[in-house]
Amino acid sequence: MEKSIKFIYKDETFEFPLVGGTENELGIDIKTLRALTGLVTLDPGFKNSGSCESGVTFLDGEKGILKYRGYSIDDLAKGADFLEVAYLLIFGELPTSAQLEKFQSDINEEAIVDEDLKTILKSFPKTAHPMGILASLTSALTAFNPSSVDVGSEEEMYQAIVTILAKFPILVGWTQRKVKGLPLNYYDTKLSYVDNVAQMMFKKPNSEYTSNPIVIEALNKLLILHADHEQNCSTSTVRIVGSSHAGLFASISAGISALWGPLHGGANQAVIEMLEAIKEDGGDTKKFMAKAKDKSDPFRLMGFGHRVYKNFDPRAKIIKVAADEVLNELGIVDPVLDIAKGLEQEALSDSYFVDRKLYPNVDFYSGIIYRALGIPTEMFTVMFALGRLPGWIAQWKEMRENNEPIGRPRQIYTGETNKVLKTIEKR
Ligand code: ACO
Repeated sequence: MEKSIKFIYKDETFEFPLVGGTENELGIDIKTLRALTGLVTLDPGFKNSGSCESGVTFLDGEKGILKYRGYSIDDLAKGADFLEVAYLLIFGELPTSAQLEKFQSDINEEAIVDEDLKTILKSFPKTAHPMGILASLTSALTAFNPSSVDVGSEEEMYQAIVTILAKFPILVGWTQRKVKGLPLNYYDTKLSYVDNVAQMMFKKPNSEYTSNPIVIEALNKLLILHADHEQNCSTSTVRIVGSSHAGLFASISAGISALWGPLHGGANQAVIEMLEAIKEDGGDTKKFMAKAKDKSDPFRLMGFGHRVYKNFDPRAKIIKVAADEVLNELGIVDPVLDIAKGLEQEALSDSYFVDRKLYPNVDFYSGIIYRALGIPTEMFTVMFALGRLPGWIAQWKEMRENNEPIGRPRQIYTGETNKVLKTIEKR
């Protein structure tokens, strides 16, 4: 196998080492490029650039493979609990029973937030988007907890991780309760992590909370499927914010803002809104397919296409089956599921989508399940954030432990040069 790559610039040959990953990926190590040649690389959107070496998640977009720490996403979605997967992502190994018990009990210990946070929540109008509220409340956590972590101290790191894992679902629950006008409630240490998520979101003030195994299983699966996805937009944001040695909560708050956009996590909300619009318009999927293909129309088929997957998103396959199961088991008939299936069928045999390798992504079917569970549309991306939390933590921890340098890209300057300053009267 080649060990390096050579290139010639101004008649001089430069050699750069190749870096290999454990799944046979190859990259060119250009750390010395600018020092040796004076050149930088230009790669908008980082379509060809690796920002780090990472041992957390592997994905092969061409083959449609996704693994967390070496375990296939199918196996984890079928046979693991979200908290086990969180532990796996963050600490590198699946927990033993004793480790899991301690992890859960340490989370229980921290599962309370300062009452003053309620004042901040109260000051948001009811119409505020839940993602904006969640980002603000997460950022506000820094005011009530140590703002920085000594990454050299295993104990401090562990405590920060347990703290955010414990408090975040409370913030998620409160965000939903704000939207629904329900009184705020707390974590119940007698319940499991995922059961608590459901309890904090759905418990009504006038009745007991009874856990529904179908809801818990669906939530567990969705959270696992969203738990990490290597260097995506929000995770790269978390890593780059953390690379300035900003604290864990502040970095995660930035990640939430990045996730909010409709080209990233916000797509799950956009998909349901699109499916609803198609239904309202009479259900003519062909009309919307034509709009998606029309370059003069800004409309895109939301939930289709992915920067990395040029094959079926393995998460979408699992979610599609789960959507069918959940709707059947809860006895819900949702016409938008049929519209979604119709659109998928058309897109998979349409040359525009086939040629560009545009397949359904994780967001295409997830909203249909969230809706069936009674989660409001504006809350879908919040659910994504809850699932992604362990991934953000794992990537932040890895970045700090590897002592990565501050993220600071270069540019090619294309602005004006050497302008002469005139006094304001002469401009
Ligand atoms: N509908 C119609 N055309 C599309 C779509 C779509 N959903 N996605 C990509 N295309 C077309 C583009 O117009 C472009 O066509 P061209 O080559 O003729 O110019 C080509 O496919 C390549 O698309 P890019 O935008 O260059 O691909 P990129 O990798 O930059 O973007 C993205 C990926 C943002 C996900 C894009 O496919 C998209 O906007 N999809 C819809 C939004 C969405 O579902 N986002 C969720 C992604 S998953 C996640 O973040 C959890």
